[in-house]
Amino acid sequence: MSRDLLVEIKDHFREQFSKYTRKAFQMLPKLEKPRILDIGCGSGAPTIELAKLSDGEIIGIDISQSLLDKLNSKIEEEGFSSRVKTMKCSLFEMDFPDESFDIIWAEGSIWIIGFEKGLKEWRRLLKPNGFLVVHDEIKTVSNKLKKIPRCGYKLINHFQLPEDAWWTEYYRPLEIRIEELYMKYKNNSGALKILKKYQDEIDMVKRNPKEHSSAFFIMQKS
Ligand SMILES: C[S@@+](CC[C@H](N)C(=O)[O-])C[C@H]1O[C@@H](n2cnc3c(N)ncnc32)[C@H](O)[C@@H]1O
Repeated sequence: MSRDLLVEIKDHFREQFSKYTRKAFQMLPKLEKPRILDIGCGSGAPTIELAKLSDGEIIGIDISQSLLDKLNSKIEEEGFSSRVKTMKCSLFEMDFPDESFDIIWAEGSIWIIGFEKGLKEWRRLLKPNGFLVVHDEIKTVSNKLKKIPRCGYKLINHFQLPEDAWWTEYYRPLEIRIEELYMKYKNNSGALKILKKYQDEIDMVKRNPKEHSSAFFIMQKS
């Protein structure tokens, strides 16, 4: 069993969260052919959803070439090659010109740079009145809400995923699949080692599912 198979399985369950990507996108005003930057796009669950939701040009950046390769296959399969591109690039080294994008999208990636630093550094990349949509952990939501105007944005909206969404919609279904794979690969030590790593992540969430809630913040550059 390759690690790729597990990434595919995770991707399958990650798709469940596309409804929240859609909900956040629908909170933005309608934009004609927006230029969108998806920061830390991974294998592209949000990127593909954004391509379906808009008629815009999208660039997905990530440091993992293997995840970008997966996204590139999806882009081709879905017929989005003319307007969705990927770029292997660190979010610490983005050298796009100022005011390049109408929308910046970041699901599960702003923690890498920090909420406040991300807001401040990414602001220059947005066109005047452009939008930043961030999906991030919930623990410090009130602090984050205070930081938004200080970092040069207006809060358009925000919403929290149901408290147990990550457990019931992602980790529990993933655990059931992993249990099946444990049976299938019970004599394959390499496979069992990979599965154990995923099971450890699941166990961490299982101990306190509500601690793993997250929220979307929909902001506009002011
Ligand atoms: C939690 S995943 C989120 C993936 C995707 N946005 C999603 O919602 O499914 C975080 C992603 O950030 C990427 N990442 C980690 N460090 C990064 C960096 N310095 N620059 C760009 N991407 C990075 C990882 O490779 C991973 O794909």
